[in-house]
This record gives sequence, C-alpha cells and structure tokens, in this order.
Amino acid sequence: MSTSSSTPVDLTNLDFGVDPFPGTELHEVLANLRESQRAASVKFHGGDAVLFTRYEDVHEAFRDDQKFPGGDFYEGAIEPVVGRTFISMNGREHDLHRKLATPAFRSRAVTQFDEEALVPLAHEVVDKFADWGHADLVSELTTVFPFAAITRKLGVPRRADEQMREWADRMLAYPADPDAAVTAAEEFSEALGPLLEERRSNPGDDLLSELAATDVGGEKLSDDEICATIRLLFAVGATTTSHAMGNMLWTLLDRPDLLERARENESVRAGIVQELLRWEGPLPTLPRLASKDARHAGANIPAGTLMLFGLASANRDPRVFGEDAGTFDPERAPGVQAADIITFGFGPKFCPGSHLARRELLTALTVVLEKLPGLHLSDPEGSEPRGGVLRHPDHLHVAWDVQ
Ligand code: HEM
Repeated sequence: MSTSSSTPVDLTNLDFGVDPFPGTELHEVLANLRESQRAASVKFHGGDAVLFTRYEDVHEAFRDDQKFPGGDFYEGAIEPVVGRTFISMNGREHDLHRKLATPAFRSRAVTQFDEEALVPLAHEVVDKFADWGHADLVSELTTVFPFAAITRKLGVPRRADEQMREWADRMLAYPADPDAAVTAAEEFSEALGPLLEERRSNPGDDLLSELAATDVGGEKLSDDEICATIRLLFAVGATTTSHAMGNMLWTLLDRPDLLERARENESVRAGIVQELLRWEGPLPTLPRLASKDARHAGANIPAGTLMLFGLASANRDPRVFGEDAGTFDPERAPGVQAADIITFGFGPKFCPGSHLARRELLTALTVVLEKLPGLHLSDPEGSEPRGGVLRHPDHLHVAWDVQ
C-alpha cells in the first residue's frame, strides 16, 4: 500500500482533464485518494467531477448499467463527430448494434488476422527505420502501427494508410477543433462510400465486407452506420492501443534488465503485455455521466454529475492485487486473471477490441526486440507517460546497434 495513503490530498488545484501528472505523480495522487476519499470532488477541464478510485466502486458502476448507463457520456463526447454508434447507445439498442459491428474482433478472428496481416505489417513499419540507428519510437512506430492495423483490417488499399491516419488525427481533435473534426469525418465517409459499394457487390475477407454482410435477426447496418462504426474504431481503438504501446516501450526502456529478459525469453513477453495493461494503461480515468440521481460508494450523486472512474487506481488497488500492487512484475501475470484487470472496462461496454489490442502490443514488442538490437533510451528527459485521461509518452528518443 502507498506510504502516502493516509494524508488527504489537496485537490484544489488538480485538474484531471488538463494536468500532466507525469510518471509516478499520478499514481501517488490516486493511491492517496484510494485510501482517504472514496468519492473525491475533483476538477475536470475546469468543471466539477467526482472521482472513484477503489476497484470495487469502479467494478460495481460498470456492472450495473441501469444505474449509470454507459452510452450517455459518449453522446456528447464522441457522437457529434463519429456519428451514432453503439458506444453512445444503452440497453437493447446498444447490444444489437454491438453484435452487428464487432464479430471481426472476436478472439479467433483476431488470431487469424495477426498471423496473416499484423506480423507482416509490424515488420513493414519497423523496417522503414531499422537501419537509421536512432529514432523517436512514438512518431515512427506507436502512432503508426495501430492506425495501419485498422486500415489493413478494413481492407482499404495500402496507399490510403497516411490519408486515413490524417483523417483520424483530425477527427480526434474534437472538441478542441470541432470544424476540422467534422470536415475530416465527412471526407472520410466520402472516401469510404465507393469502397463500401464495391464490397457489397464483391465481398472480400475484410472488415468492410463483414460489416456490410452481418445480419442479426434480420437487422443490418446501413451505409451511414458502417461509416460511423469505422470512424469509431479509429477514434477509440487506434489511439488507445497507440498510447498503450508507448507506455509498454517506455516501461521496458526504463528497466534495461526487463528489456533484456524480454529479448532472451520469449515466454515472458505475454506477461509483460498483461502486466503493462494493469500497471500503466492508456486510460487512467474514464468519464461517465450520471443521468439520474444515484448513491454510489457512500456518496449522493445528483443527476448531471460528471463521474471519473479511476481505472489506473483500481488496477493498483491492494485489496485486489496484493500489497505489491504498485510494482511492475510480469511474473505476477499468470496469477492475475485477464478478467481481473479493469483496463478494458467491465460489463456491457467491455472493450470489444481487447484481443486486437493485446495482439498488437505483443507483435510490436516481438518485432522491436528482433529488429533493434541494443535498444536504449538516448534522451530519457520527459519521456515518461503523462496525462490523467489519455496517458502516454510524448516521445521516446532511442538508439540501437546497426550492423
Ligand atoms: C489498449 C488498448 C485499449 C484500451 C485500454 C481500451 C479500453 C476500453 C475501455 C475501458 C472501454 C469501455 C468504455 C466504457 O465503459 O465506457 C472500451 C470500449 C470500447 N473499445 Fe476499447 N480499448 C482499447 C483498444 C481498442 C481497440 C483496438 C478497439 C477496436 C479496434 C476498441 C474498440 C472499442 C469500442 C468500439 C468500445 C465501445 C464498446 C461499447 O460501447 O460497447 N478498443 N475500450
């Protein structure tokens, strides 16, 4: 348990939406709150929010989607640019649209995709810079590979990679730059339209064809719904995985002993991915909106309250993960069931992309270890993960041996 656990944190100046919380700072604040204030009043982008930090309180809120319907927050945060998709829906409407949109992300489908497309793609991405001897792994790898993985899954031509990423980046500028985001979303749909039409008449083994064909009890997705679904996958799937990849590489680069173990022993790599997702995930806090009055974790939550669920804190809660929950230990992984970590949420909105994300992380790690011998941080200054909502390193300047 954290040594600072009993001193209440002064939250007056802490804003989880904008403060950087670099490195250990975030975890120290969260550990303190977990022990001192079960439901803490905090700031979020200048407004008020209530932050929950204990595993049981996060788990319970996600499990009971009658009490806090998961779609309500996304109606304002994602729907204006992405369009109406299952992420901003609740109840039966959510379940039906999710069934229509996600078969391609089931475990078996992802394993096949990994072998056929993901591994060659990771080699392609790393080969582009492998003979440079130095690079920023954020700009060359972590922000490239997860976006390219989704364009491959869509089955769009390779030459579209760059353009897709540019649209995705501009869409993600919402709400800071709403006009750019909405224009990008429109351009994106215009480009996908003809491809979708082509796949309807000539289906292939790709996500677009599958989205066009999937039928649940006679219900199918319309063209607009398919375009919105694709935009959603870029917005929530590529960014999160990109940030998780940055956190994973930083964690290893910061611990050269671990990097060497991962290089020498292939079997430790899955444990590293699993432990990374628990220890330094890309979404340390997840916002939800209380749409009606409720009571949670001993506090009254009036309708309209913005709630923040501390995934990073729940994942380090000693009540669930033991007294050494704050230690990064890949050997613990076999004992920690994948289902116990709350990185991918829980309940009806549990992340449908978790298999793909895990595969991408493992594949990137394996290819980096294979192709970049002697890898080390050349400029550690400011490279630690930062952010209270989206957490990742801004850069990872590294060097390696080139034969
Ligand atoms: C390490 C990477 C990832 C993390 C940490 C992550 C995390 C999460 C979390 C916590 C949720 C639940 C949101 C809530 O309850 O409000 C979620 C939902 C979702 N994720 Fe992921 N995700 C990741 C990767 C992906 C990928 C690769 C995809 C797809 C390509 C994806 C697609 C989605 C979608 C569509 C939802 C909405 C589910 C629903 O509304 O039913 N995610 N993700």
